Amino acid sequence: MNIRPVREEDVKDLMRLEDGSIEHPWEEEELAKLAQDPNKSGFAAEEGGRVTGYIGFSYILDEAEIGNVVVDKEYRRRGIGEALIEAAKGYLREQGIARVYLEVAEDNDAAKNLYSKAGFTSFNIRKDYYGKGRNAILMVCEI
Ligand SMILES: CC(C)(COP(=O)(O)OP(=O)(O)OC[C@H]1O[C@@H](n2cnc3c(N)ncnc32)[C@H](O)[C@@H]1OP(=O)(O)O)[C@@H](O)C(=O)NCCC(=O)NCCS
Repeated sequence: MNIRPVREEDVKDLMRLEDGSIEHPWEEEELAKLAQDPNKSGFAAEEGGRVTGYIGFSYILDEAEIGNVVVDKEYRRRGIGEALIEAAKGYLREQGIARVYLEVAEDNDAAKNLYSKAGFTSFNIRKDYYGKGRNAILMVCEI
């Protein structure tokens, strides 16, 4: 597995990864910003030249927020999600970021377990955030 910064030419691959895996996929322009916007960044995971996962995040002052983490269905449970989060944390630490936030659907056990394993703890709930009866859990990690 190779983890490297997201590049503009990755956008189509990132859209393919989101398709069917994310309830509210990011638009093409939103994904392109990961490689363009000075307050956003992302990492892609590659296996033999194929993009198998990505993480996108934004940061300002000393705080960051992880927007999306997606791993190709065929490549899950091999540590790619964890490696992407570690790459993001390492990069953000170098930028002087102190803490990273994210929100995750209460019923998304895979993502909740991944974030817990990566050192995130929950600190609040947003009721009905993803629609009626579907709460978001807010998590934070001090880095
Ligand atoms: C969540 C997701 C990114 C995990 O990626 P992954 O590469 O499979 O995760 P990893 O292999 O690094 O797993 C790390 C840990 O996460 C947890 N985990 C991952 N998948 C899980 C699952 N299906 N069920 C329960 N726990 C899971 C486990 O604790 C795992 O550690 P372990 O394998 O030692 O038990 C992937 O399932 C995915 O793309 N889901 C759809 C998109 C999504 O919901 N993204 C998050 C919200 S934006």
